Amino acid sequence: MVDYLIGAVGDIPEGMGRAFQAGRRTVAVFKSKGKFFALSNRCAHRGASLCDGELSDNGTVVRCPWHNWPYDLATGEHRLDPKEKQRSFPVRVEGDRIIISI
Ligand code: FES
Repeated sequence: MVDYLIGAVGDIPEGMGRAFQAGRRTVAVFKSKGKFFALSNRCAHRGASLCDGELSDNGTVVRCPWHNWPYDLATGEHRLDPKEKQRSFPVRVEGDRIIISI
């Protein structure tokens, strides 16, 4: 795995997502209840940017902005269809910096 410094903690408002480039990948990073989660940004359905989705289910799910598919923030699993999944990536915070491992 390779670590990518993607930004500062303050770059992502609570309850929101932002897209970051990590090597060749675009990753959607979310802040929910003070924790950070990273998923592949391109929705497995038709390619919408998940970083623009809304959080739901008490901040545990991101809903795709185009057709509302619900992905678990922690695992990337589709909440209604286990066959569909977004890739998820480990996130850690060091000081003020957000680092993801791909
Ligand atoms: S593009 Fe994401 S649910 Fe359709």
